[in-house]
Amino acid sequence: MTSSWLVTGAHGLLGRDVLDELATQPDVAVTGLGRDRLDITDPAAVRAAVAGHRVVVNCAAWTDVDGAERSEATATAVNGTGVRHLARACADSGALLLHISTDYVFRGNARRPYSDDAPTGPVNAYGRSKLAGERAVAELLPRTGYIVRTAWLYGEHGRNFVAGHHARTRRPATDPGRGGRPARPADLVACARPATGSPRPCRPGGAGTGGRLPRHGGRPDHLVRPGA
Ligand SMILES: NC(=O)c1ccc[n+]([C@@H]2O[C@H](COP(=O)([O-])OP(=O)(O)OC[C@H]3O[C@@H](n4cnc5c(N)ncnc54)[C@H](OP(=O)(O)O)[C@@H]3O)[C@@H](O)[C@H]2O)c1
Repeated sequence: MTSSWLVTGAHGLLGRDVLDELATQPDVAVTGLGRDRLDITDPAAVRAAVAGHRVVVNCAAWTDVDGAERSEATATAVNGTGVRHLARACADSGALLLHISTDYVFRGNARRPYSDDAPTGPVNAYGRSKLAGERAVAELLPRTGYIVRTAWLYGEHGRNFVAGHHARTRRPATDPGRGGRPARPADLVACARPATGSPRPCRPGGAGTGGRLPRHGGRPDHLVRPGA
């Protein structure tokens, strides 16, 4: 049976690879909407776009970390309130929401990988705005909202740290480390690959864990449902 998926932020770095990957799935009918066709800060537009879809993958985000410091309200309007609109629409329609978040919700001083229930503590505006989005998903979709926290995405499209590093050094990037932040780069294709009829979690730096998303009790460190 074909299931209908919606990808928001479809023109972004992750959104494009998610769309490409979903397009290879015979049992998935996918609609990708960039910001020009769906602005997630518009609740009525979000409701209309979500209707009729079984799964929504939210790749839309304000990702300008430095810009968020200058304009936290704007970043929060997208990463917090916009995600709340999506979660509300999914709750009303019965769609699953797979929401992409970030390691910036943590302080960033850990010496080992974070567990999914590690205390959050963002130190910048971008992290606070992304945490607001996570909280909206957890609050409105306690059973059907999924949050993937990832870091250092790279892929063929758009700006990413590999291209930036290469441009700066004119050498292939071999070490993505920055400021001592522990991070494992995530291959977008691995992040994007779905299981049949249901989303598949992304494991930073490697392939998805496969199969269906875990319910309570199944807790890979990269897939979290805060408050669950
Ligand atoms: N890139 C990384 O290394 C990284 C690391 C950790 C987590 N993440 C997370 O991964 C997700 C995808 O990131 P990405 O790297 O693919 O970012 P990206 O390339 O900046 O893509 C984000 C997309 O969202 C769109 N967008 C912005 N505001 C919107 C709005 N109000 N409504 C609808 N769409 C809107 C952007 O459109 P415009 O271009 O028109 O603004 C852009 O196409 C984000 O949640 C991000 O926080 C990324």
